[in-house]
Amino acid sequence: MAYNLLKGKKGIIFGALNNMSIAWKVAERAHEEGAEFVLTNTPVSLRFGELNELAEKTGSIIVPADATSVPDLENLVKTAMEKFGGKIDFILHSVAMSLNVRKGKLYDDLNYDYLKKTLDISAISFHKVLQVSRKLDAIKDWGSVVALSYVAAQRSLYGYNDMADAKAMLESIARSFGYIYGRDKKIRVNTISQSPTLTTAGSGVKGIDGLLDFTNRMSPLGNATADECADYCVTLFSDLTRKVTMQNLYHDGGFSKMGMSFRAMNMYNQGLEQGKHMKDDE
Ligand SMILES: NC(=O)c1ccc[n+]([C@@H]2O[C@H](COP(=O)([O-])OP(=O)(O)OC[C@H]3O[C@@H](n4cnc5c(N)ncnc54)[C@H](O)[C@@H]3O)[C@@H](O)[C@H]2O)c1
Repeated sequence: MAYNLLKGKKGIIFGALNNMSIAWKVAERAHEEGAEFVLTNTPVSLRFGELNELAEKTGSIIVPADATSVPDLENLVKTAMEKFGGKIDFILHSVAMSLNVRKGKLYDDLNYDYLKKTLDISAISFHKVLQVSRKLDAIKDWGSVVALSYVAAQRSLYGYNDMADAKAMLESIARSFGYIYGRDKKIRVNTISQSPTLTTAGSGVKGIDGLLDFTNRMSPLGNATADECADYCVTLFSDLTRKVTMQNLYHDGGFSKMGMSFRAMNMYNQGLEQGKHMKDDE
């Protein structure tokens, strides 16, 4: 159901790769709510051509940009301002990648060149997006910028690897830039800490099927889906959340506040005997 929450609002959406992507769902919902936006992703990912379908459906243009490249970001933001004839209202940063995860490097055997890339793509790029936007004075007063995070920024979760460090940095950037952008321009900067979600990036997380089942059992409301995440993003881009800034907002069905649930304990107990014979690092 649409409420016209984003009628007249213009934005930039990073990170729609295919129709599983959280950013894809956000684009669909934002379009339903009356927003217009520019879609962007890396030149390599655009070669798959799937984004054209979303662009057509939402009446958007696609501007290629590597989120780690300041010149690419400057071109993207300037193009968006030209298209919309002025400043924009919102930005979604839905970008992450870890070569350590992809190449199966464990956290106590990281490749540091890969780690630098993880941090640059998954966290520092958010700073770059904010800094470029501010220097070009691209966002309207009371605009809203949202990035997607994960609870591994606060808690140790098996298998999340160096992405946990990237998410901690991402959330810190939201606070630090949120202060400056809020003070000077009344612009909100927040992160949404989303449940594990089956997407291309999500599938890279070690043991994703077990993790999805575990977090679902642990969460009183169950895992939050990508579509539900899109709903939440829409509220944060809307005028209904104008005093929410510098927050890491959990969108996880309650998982982050749980210790143990009945449903998870039941499942755990079923494997208790077998588990007694397992090694700790299995
Ligand atoms: N899927 C999950 O379980 C989950 C949970 C919490 C948070 N998140 C976060 O949500 C965001 C979106 O991920 P997703 O799950 O939709 O997966 P996804 O794979 O669909 O999206 C990740 C996107 O990042 C883009 N990207 C990678 N490197 C880039 C670069 N250098 N410049 C620009 N874009 C680049 C990819 O092309 C892709 O579109 C990520 O920040 C991810 O960490 C995902």
